Amino acid sequence: MWPWVVVLYLLGNADVIWTFPITPEPRITREDFQFAKEYLRRFNNLAGDGAQRSRRDTAAFENKVREMQEFFGLEVTGHLNQQTLAQMKTARCGVPDVDNYNFYPDRPKWRNHTIRYRIAKYTPDLRREQVENSFRMALKMWSDAAPLRFLKVDRGKADIMISFSSRDHGDFFPFDGPRGVLAHAFEPGGDMGGDIHFDEDEIWTMGDRSYGYNLFTVAAHELGHALGLAHSRDPSALMYPSYKYNNMAHYVLPIDDSLGIQALYGPPNPRKQQQTLATPDKCDPNLSFDAVALIGQERVFFKDRYVWLRTTWAGQRNRLRQGPSSTYLPSILSPVDAAYSLPAKGVAYIFTGPKYWVVQQLNAKSHYGSIYDFGFPTKVKKIDAAVHIEEYRKTYFFVGDVYYRYDEDRSAMDSGFPRSIATNWPGIVGKIDAAFELSGYIHLFRGTKAYKYDVKKRHVMYVVKANAWLGC
Ligand SMILES: *[C@@H]1O[C@H](CO)[C@@H](O)[C@H](O)[C@H]1NC(C)=O
Ligand SMILES: *[C@@H]1O[C@H](CO)[C@@H](O)[C@H](O)[C@H]1NC(C)=O
Ligand SMILES: [Zn+2]
Repeated sequence: MWPWVVVLYLLGNADVIWTFPITPEPRITREDFQFAKEYLRRFNNLAGDGAQRSRRDTAAFENKVREMQEFFGLEVTGHLNQQTLAQMKTARCGVPDVDNYNFYPDRPKWRNHTIRYRIAKYTPDLRREQVENSFRMALKMWSDAAPLRFLKVDRGKADIMISFSSRDHGDFFPFDGPRGVLAHAFEPGGDMGGDIHFDEDEIWTMGDRSYGYNLFTVAAHELGHALGLAHSRDPSALMYPSYKYNNMAHYVLPIDDSLGIQALYGPPNPRKQQQTLATPDKCDPNLSFDAVALIGQERVFFKDRYVWLRTTWAGQRNRLRQGPSSTYLPSILSPVDAAYSLPAKGVAYIFTGPKYWVVQQLNAKSHYGSIYDFGFPTKVKKIDAAVHIEEYRKTYFFVGDVYYRYDEDRSAMDSGFPRSIATNWPGIVGKIDAAFELSGYIHLFRGTKAYKYDVKKRHVMYVVKANAWLGC
């Protein structure tokens, strides 16, 4: 009835006999072959209904198995074995692997680098903000790597329409129920071009649960398709077809994907930034700061995309340097909201929107994470100021008119927060722009003023102009 099954099964066994130690592979069943044919039809363009009526059908099947094995870097045998089957059963993206390009054949891409997206249908598995944060983080990863801007719209047609649905959902590519295909996306273009569909029969999660799939991970991959990238054969690439959990907090766009997106859209545009970056006058009486932190041996004052660096070590105390922040901190391309240093670990944390960067020293490579790692509620979208008090080993985060306290030893927020700034920091009212600790005192910046604050006695010791810190 199925003679070729027997033949392949014997070949499978022969493989086993040639390798030691011998642990007999479980038998490849008829269901396995059905599954493999379905898979190859779907992802490798196996023609016909997959029935093996002739030798040509068998050859076509083996060719596709070979193609698939090659794509995934498996041993290329052309025979269905357990390793190949296991790869086929790995949860994956629904976009086919028919070619070896990094791009779609005609390299479609968005002409307008401001791309509108809309989450047209949410999943009930997660809260609305969690869904939005997952997409925001995934989009930011791509827009940091290339000169792209994403604009969220809440009505009408957007370039990238995002939705969660199950089974048939109106695009001829019905989903397959739980597991298997998790999502698919269309290459850039009109109509459905750029749209992303997630299989609602999956359980979507924020973390790395033993069940379900991490939304950020899948969203980041599908966005790659929506921007014009096809699957990569590099197993470390985000655009590799099978699912592998990535922590939104620590994930950095792999080099293969960075090169891919830059080949389509060019590198992130520092020239444009420089044009819009008028050198600010440090003694402008209106000057305020966005953030201040000690990085290496220099205290860095952030303003828009510009920094001043004031040396703190005795030999060269008060030497002042200045320039675009990207000159000293290559990863920091957006204006900084807040920053603090953790001398015990020799690192500084720099916050831009929902993202933070960990920096050991100037001009060094940094990695990033999500502010939600710190335990902020999702309603917090950015942090105004942050300061670490070494004596207490606590970090204070200022957000609007409240503040949070983070325990660095426990890596967790202290309970009972947020609290009101006005109530607990007498003498300080309203939003704080920047803060840092020096010799046990806190310096808080608000508008054009800098307050020296005694934390123990809870009072303001004196107020100076903010740019007095730059020698003005
Ligand atoms: C690009 O898209 C944005 C957002 O939709 C729009 O405001 C802008 O006018 C577009 N630019 C061009 C050149 O079409
Ligand atoms: C400072 O700000 C005030 C009010 O916004 C403005 O009138 C003044 O021209 C500014 N001064 C400088 C030097 O920019
Ligand atoms: Zn994919």
